[in-house]
Amino acid sequence: MTIKDLLQKYKCKLDALDAELIIANSLAKSREFVLTYPENNITDDQLPLIEKDIARRIGGEPLAYITGRREFYGLDFKVNEHTLVPRPETEMLVEDALGLLRNALRNKDEDIVVADIGTGSGNIIVSIAKAMEDFKFEISNLKFIGIDMSGDALEVARQNAKAHGLDKEIKFLHGNLLSPILKPDIHNLGPGRLIILANLPYLSEDIYESAPKDVINFEPKTALYSPEAGLKHYRELFEQIKNSSVIRNLSSVTILIEYSPEQKELLEKIIPDFFPNAKSEFKQDLAEKWRTVKINLI
Ligand SMILES: C[S@@+](CC[C@H](N)C(=O)[O-])C[C@H]1O[C@@H](n2cnc3c(N)ncnc32)[C@H](O)[C@@H]1O
Repeated sequence: MTIKDLLQKYKCKLDALDAELIIANSLAKSREFVLTYPENNITDDQLPLIEKDIARRIGGEPLAYITGRREFYGLDFKVNEHTLVPRPETEMLVEDALGLLRNALRNKDEDIVVADIGTGSGNIIVSIAKAMEDFKFEISNLKFIGIDMSGDALEVARQNAKAHGLDKEIKFLHGNLLSPILKPDIHNLGPGRLIILANLPYLSEDIYESAPKDVINFEPKTALYSPEAGLKHYRELFEQIKNSSVIRNLSSVTILIEYSPEQKELLEKIIPDFFPNAKSEFKQDLAEKWRTVKINLI
């Protein structure tokens, strides 16, 4: 059977792009190869494996779990059933963080820790560390940390950091929210600047229940759902920050989080309850939906 025959066979059951990418991935070739050489023969060994993957996709499994990869911020990331599939809208958090870091280059003597809470596949922190590679000697002490409560997700994040040559640059820590870095002196936090990034679970029960079947059936619920209108994780994070003596000793703290557009109003009310003196800046994404907030604490 040729590539063309196989594409023809599944034409009515599967999106052409998905079929091309599954075939390319199984043959360890690019999509361009599949499109350029439709007469290429698929061997009897290859065919059942490709058809098994095609059946998974027809069954609703996200393409990223079948190919084991997803592109994010121009980089290739390994993903699996323990990690969320990175979403394009999260690239905004990376952009926002890079804006802060480029500004920080003006004060080259400052120690800066960038902590990504709920790092998952490590897509956010790896993208930022990669983009800052050329500047790392300009900031005297720039540290990157990724935290997750899922040991399996952290394993994937470590592999992604290694694949991008950043395994020595990023420390991955296991634990609840910020707690792994809040123990005094353990990770040399302070007295410099801390940038906290978080794309924590934020789907309310209603939104989670109405999510597409491929999300509910295949992505980890622990990466998506949060009680209390989707904001329990962020409330807990704010509580940890508010009560931490380690954080009080820092010269500056900025929190950057991603949320669901309808949560903006609630966040506007909650943030001053935790941080009465903070300055918050809410931002919309390219589709003009509220997406991130930057909270400057000190
Ligand atoms: C929405 S996913 C984000 C994954 C990745 N950062 C991204 O942007 O695609 C949330 C992540 O937070 C982690 N998580 C959930 N609760 C946590 C907690 N209490 N402490 C640390 N990580 C947590 C989940 O395991 C998951 O990897």
